[in-house]
Amino acid sequence: MRSARHVIRACGNQESIICPNGGMILVVPLPPEPPRGPLWQTLAWSFRPLAFMARNREEIGDAFSVRFLGFERPMVMISDPAAVKALYTERRHGLPPGRTFALEPILGPRSVLLLEGEEHMARRRLMLPPFHGERMRSYEVTVGEIVTAEIDSWQLGREFPIHARMQAVTLEVILRAVFGVAAGPRLDRLRVMLRDVLADTGSVRRQLLGILARRRGRDPLADVRERLVQVDELLFAEIAEHRRRPDLEERHDILSMLMTATFEDGSAMDDKELRDQLMTLLLAGHETTATALAWTFDLLLRHPVEVGRLRTSLEAGEDTYLKATIAEALRLRPVIPIAGRRLVTDLVTEALELPAGTDVTPAIWLTHTNPEIYPEPFAFRPERFHRQAPETYAWIPFGGGVRRCLGAAFAEFEMAIVLREVLTRCDLRKADPRPEKTGRRNITFSPRAGTPVVVEARRPARERAPLAA
Ligand code: HEM
Repeated sequence: MRSARHVIRACGNQESIICPNGGMILVVPLPPEPPRGPLWQTLAWSFRPLAFMARNREEIGDAFSVRFLGFERPMVMISDPAAVKALYTERRHGLPPGRTFALEPILGPRSVLLLEGEEHMARRRLMLPPFHGERMRSYEVTVGEIVTAEIDSWQLGREFPIHARMQAVTLEVILRAVFGVAAGPRLDRLRVMLRDVLADTGSVRRQLLGILARRRGRDPLADVRERLVQVDELLFAEIAEHRRRPDLEERHDILSMLMTATFEDGSAMDDKELRDQLMTLLLAGHETTATALAWTFDLLLRHPVEVGRLRTSLEAGEDTYLKATIAEALRLRPVIPIAGRRLVTDLVTEALELPAGTDVTPAIWLTHTNPEIYPEPFAFRPERFHRQAPETYAWIPFGGGVRRCLGAAFAEFEMAIVLREVLTRCDLRKADPRPEKTGRRNITFSPRAGTPVVVEARRPARERAPLAA
């Protein structure tokens, strides 16, 4: 099947047509689109994303083009690991469409999520070390304290949405372990202000209204900007306080490490850039980790055999089954559905040829539910990854290549601590035994009802051996 939509590229000997100037050009067809137009596709993607992708895979194939309102060009969704590998191993590809436009007003121009080329790589080199290896151990105590206090606040027998509680936990982790804010009035104000900014920017309704506002030439973020000014005041005050600390070099929060690290030319991030990276880490790391935790609870609490096995292994001080559980939850319920690029060179595999200039993204959930890679793809089976690492380009919840999630190891470590504490201290059940439906918050795939749970029994906190980072 061929799409009506074609992209034109340089001369060649195939499907060539004559240019107005007399030259020959080659027309490379993009993979086909679903039969209905951009409005229908945008609504389907916003409200029934899994059904939309599954249907396209069934009716069109592994690669298909989609067109969403507000975007000039179609986007090609791919899911074959060979195509994903070809996409992610080319370091020069550009940012996906819309990222800068949507995020720069909140994150600022120096955000690592928005820079490209050497500027981007320099930030990655500077920012990666605090998120890796032994450095992670220092966060274990902070995360442990936060989740312990959270569990102690849960009322026995009362139903509550665990997604919201995980959002509270991961926000607190960012504020204390990443921003390094100490208990006090600034922490209290930041907690409230940031929660409001995140809620303001989170809903799909808001994103659709944003598209309409932009089409009418209005500022889609007008009402958030005022709050951001106040957030910035607090962040700059925190950065200034960090600078005055005599023990800055010894501190373990990520802000302190970013302040003391230097680029290859010996310079360091200035206050404005530090502010941009803090907002980036907040936006990239808070909702994502909370949602991944909520999905893991939704899956686990419907699989008592797996919960039993996990608890037994945790009681024995073993964490490989816990890691496998996290990998399987991220496979079956990837939080971020797409992590694309704008091609700067042609993307060519045995099955696919896409010209430079095309917007391409892995449809992560489709890769993760390919039955040829994962037999019985919709079954929750942590055993798939027990003592067996996932394949790089067939397991991509954190994207890949030079833009792969900077906080992936941090997120998995945080999830492991939270899951271990909750599962060993509490007997939980889902309030509604049915699987959660997939909803959307911001760009995430999120449990639509927030995963309501009931705590039936709780045990006191106790000392534990450290987790392997
Ligand atoms: C389960 C939780 C998380 C998921 C599923 C997730 C997923 C992702 C994805 C898909 C990308 C885009 C990768 C690409 O374009 O190839 C990304 C980028 C990023 N993530 Fe995460 N993330 C999570 C947690 C975190 C945390 C905890 C942090 C930090 C505190 C973080 C910081 C970042 C940053 C800074 C980037 C931009 C990297 C770059 O452009 O070079 N993420 N993440």
